[in-house]
Amino acid sequence: MKRFYISVLVLITVISSPAQKFAGLAKTPPMGWNSWNKFHCDVSEELIMKMADAMVSSGMKDAGYEYIVIDDCWQVSRDENGEIVVDPERFPHGMKYLADYIHSKGLKFGIYSSAGTVTCQRRPGSRGYEFQDARTYARWGVDYLKYDWCGSSTQNAKASYSLMRDALYRAGRPIVFSICEWGSNNPWEWGAEVGHLWRTTGDISDNWNSMISIFEKQKDLARYAGPDGWNDPDMLEVGNGGMTNEEYKTHFSLWCMLAAPLIAGNDLANMTPETKAILMNKEMIAVNQDTLGIQATCYRDDYGYQIWVKPLANNEKAVCLLNRSDEKKTVLVNFEELARIRTMVRRFRPPTGAAGIGATGAARMGAPAQTGAAGVPAPGAAATPPAGFGGQRPPQLTLADYRIRDLWEHKDLILKETSVYIELQPHMVKVYRFIRK
Ligand code: GLA
Repeated sequence: MKRFYISVLVLITVISSPAQKFAGLAKTPPMGWNSWNKFHCDVSEELIMKMADAMVSSGMKDAGYEYIVIDDCWQVSRDENGEIVVDPERFPHGMKYLADYIHSKGLKFGIYSSAGTVTCQRRPGSRGYEFQDARTYARWGVDYLKYDWCGSSTQNAKASYSLMRDALYRAGRPIVFSICEWGSNNPWEWGAEVGHLWRTTGDISDNWNSMISIFEKQKDLARYAGPDGWNDPDMLEVGNGGMTNEEYKTHFSLWCMLAAPLIAGNDLANMTPETKAILMNKEMIAVNQDTLGIQATCYRDDYGYQIWVKPLANNEKAVCLLNRSDEKKTVLVNFEELARIRTMVRRFRPPTGAAGIGATGAARMGAPAQTGAAGVPAPGAAATPPAGFGGQRPPQLTLADYRIRDLWEHKDLILKETSVYIELQPHMVKVYRFIRK
């Protein structure tokens, strides 16, 4: 009888405890490194330790990169108790040892699994083992889980990811939850309740067309991103060799503008000075990590020439001029007009939610920035804009209120006129930060 009462009590506790994620683990977009883009299945303890060492010695850690994530292929089977088995040849000391090593470097440790029966490389997935795996990860000292969608068959995406969220929560160790379901089931609509970032598209490849078409798909998703829940256009290819350095600068700039997670995917132990200068451009990283957490929106789109604007804290902003085309473009840029852009804000997520999102910055930028209509709230505009907007519409500032910094030249722009011609080589960007004087 006593056992019956205990079971009922446990059941009531489980049913009544609110489902939630670990809130507040990704107030700004996560930064780190993942093995997949460069090394695919060729992962090992030795490689991961080498990358952790290089993360520190290269200066990447000081620039803000934090997570070392092992992607697919570390797991080989399950034992008779259902425990996941780590490849004993490639990881001879097991995952706890590796986690301890990574932690000893002041870094955090991430791992990978899938919501389906198998991972994308047909290793055992977590379906049916969610709570057991979550406990195992917690025991090992895992800080970040990338959770894929292979082997999922007819599973419901939100339910499957919510199950793992709950399993992680019950296991008791704060773990960043990276939803990798490729945008198939509109994860931007439910991702913030469930995890800290969600992939919005299929996999990136190391070439211009792949990168720019993924970028294009983020255009309408800005309103869904914000502190603790980010659109993830996939990991960086910077330094992997398939694009020019100029294209990698563009790739990195766009990801910073999008407030995308910055997960490097190159060989950190063998970086050229150009790759280092891109990945460790601290002024660009500051745009990405801005505390407002607002994703850039497209302000102008003219025949391959685009202007993107990302509002920043303290009524600053980053403006990115992008030449998407294959031809050189000379564009007349009106800095007075750019200075005057006021961005609208609206609340997408409900004020309170299972994840407690409402309390920590639910307001999102809605409509793209408009000059003419500035001051007219977009439909559904927020009653309470986020901190940084002072509880009101952003004030009307002008060029005189700012100095303008070129974030790749690392110097202030000296403007003789308010409008100037700027040359943009094919696939190239210019990024300016409007800094309050
Ligand atoms: C999927 C994911 C990739 C990578 C591979 C590993 O394709 O989208 O990012 O994790 O699986 O197999």
